Amino acid sequence: MAIILDDISRTFSEYLLLPRLTRREQHIDKISLKAPLAKSEGSKASKFDINIPVVSACMQSVSGTNLAIALARQGGLSMIFCSQSIDSQVEMVSQVKAHKAGFVTSGANTKPDSTLASLVELMAETGHSTIPVTLDGSAKGEFCGLITDQDFWEFEDDLSNLVKDHMTPKSDVFFGTEGITLRKANELLHHHKKDCLPVLDAQGNLNSLVFKKDYVDHQRHPLELLDDNKRLSVGAAINTHDYRQRVPALMAAGADVLCFDSSDGFTEFQMDGIEWIREQYGYEIVLGVGNIVTPEGFDYLAKSGLVDFIKVGIGGGSICITREQKGVGRGQASALLDVVKQRDAFYSETGTYIPICSDGGLANDTQIVIALAMGADFVMMGRYFAMTEESPTPKVSINGQMYKPYWGEGTQRAQNWQRYADSMSSRKMMFEEGVDAYVPLVGSMAEVLETTLYKLKSTMLNIGAESLIDFRENAVLTLVSEQSIVEAGTSNVFQFSRKREIDEFDWGT
Ligand code: IMP
Repeated sequence: MAIILDDISRTFSEYLLLPRLTRREQHIDKISLKAPLAKSEGSKASKFDINIPVVSACMQSVSGTNLAIALARQGGLSMIFCSQSIDSQVEMVSQVKAHKAGFVTSGANTKPDSTLASLVELMAETGHSTIPVTLDGSAKGEFCGLITDQDFWEFEDDLSNLVKDHMTPKSDVFFGTEGITLRKANELLHHHKKDCLPVLDAQGNLNSLVFKKDYVDHQRHPLELLDDNKRLSVGAAINTHDYRQRVPALMAAGADVLCFDSSDGFTEFQMDGIEWIREQYGYEIVLGVGNIVTPEGFDYLAKSGLVDFIKVGIGGGSICITREQKGVGRGQASALLDVVKQRDAFYSETGTYIPICSDGGLANDTQIVIALAMGADFVMMGRYFAMTEESPTPKVSINGQMYKPYWGEGTQRAQNWQRYADSMSSRKMMFEEGVDAYVPLVGSMAEVLETTLYKLKSTMLNIGAESLIDFRENAVLTLVSEQSIVEAGTSNVFQFSRKREIDEFDWGT
């Protein structure tokens, strides 16, 4: 006979945190939101931390290049989606890695005898306003000079003029030589009041560029998530079908984290993939797996000794209809609490700490706070990021309101990418596990995230916590009744949500 659990599936909105003592010396600016992504042994630190406990979902309508760059700058991490060809995913990962390096390999170059017209096109195409000039027009060619959009007037100068007649020639350019430190390069930029410093090798070939704006950006984003070579960090989603081809390509492109994207990770297919990755690449790469919702699923993955973080969540996603379609899943709060309990027991028994990611179904900032208090090391979100300027979808105006399209990976729309690649597939039948929808555009990711993290830190102060570890160790949660949910909202007051309501209100005068 089937086993029926006594417990019922609960969601985050059914819980509240109780305040604990806030100490005088506590201050919001001293709170650390660092979270581990890699498993660790005993008291050893995790080999890969994120600086804020937030990652973006492995989804087409969420984690593209722009979001990945914006989120890594804030200290989080994106998982570039794998529902695309290997080549295009690799291109996205490479773009994030190339975006900021201190020493950047030049992504747009021209030749001395190119015309200004072709330069204008190049600038428009790439968005770059400073272009190195090399003899053969390549990123590593013999350096001849620099040309910027200040060196000519697009609507005044004759665009058939040649670049060499407008560029600053090498003899007048301040440059560094290969081996120069980033600090020294920035000092040169500062001293000579320049925006860009080309770095040349001993033969006079262009090696890389250092930009003032990158230095400024770095100072403005102290939590930026960088790899050992000062490049932005980025994660990449993988699947159980083509990992033998996809993983080597992503590793070569410099992905920092790999993450299986699957609604059900309690499978031998995923374990085959995990084993293959460890056999081929050892333990250097951070490997996330899932999703699971049971202690049994946790044990299966954790006891293999092969995985870093484990994602929890089936059926809670905002665009998800898995529970409706297949009758599989668990209330996200119950799933998380059960798995965290098992993780903590596993840690006590073995000394191995496995970070847990709460994935999907976080409807507001409060739920993010509750998930972290319940023991998630970090959260993965789709809708939250889909609503921002940086998500990869176009803005759409509907009845005067701006929206962005947001669709699940289990929709026909997301799965269509393999229509051609997978034409040999024997799958004749499919059903959708997600929906195709719109979400309101809320503005820039950095602004939205700032509010969320400020709220999180404020709650951590209420709990007397200075780190996310303190937070979950100090947290005391209570279940709430339906009546106390009503009490939590405003009561017996009239709120004007729109100016028209104020205008139309009968003031009795
Ligand atoms: P959200 O943050 O509530 O929008 O949920 C995002 C999460 O939903 C993702 O990280 C996935 O785990 C999950 N998800 C993405 N696409 C689908 C789908 O089509 N069906 C079910 N779950 C999905």
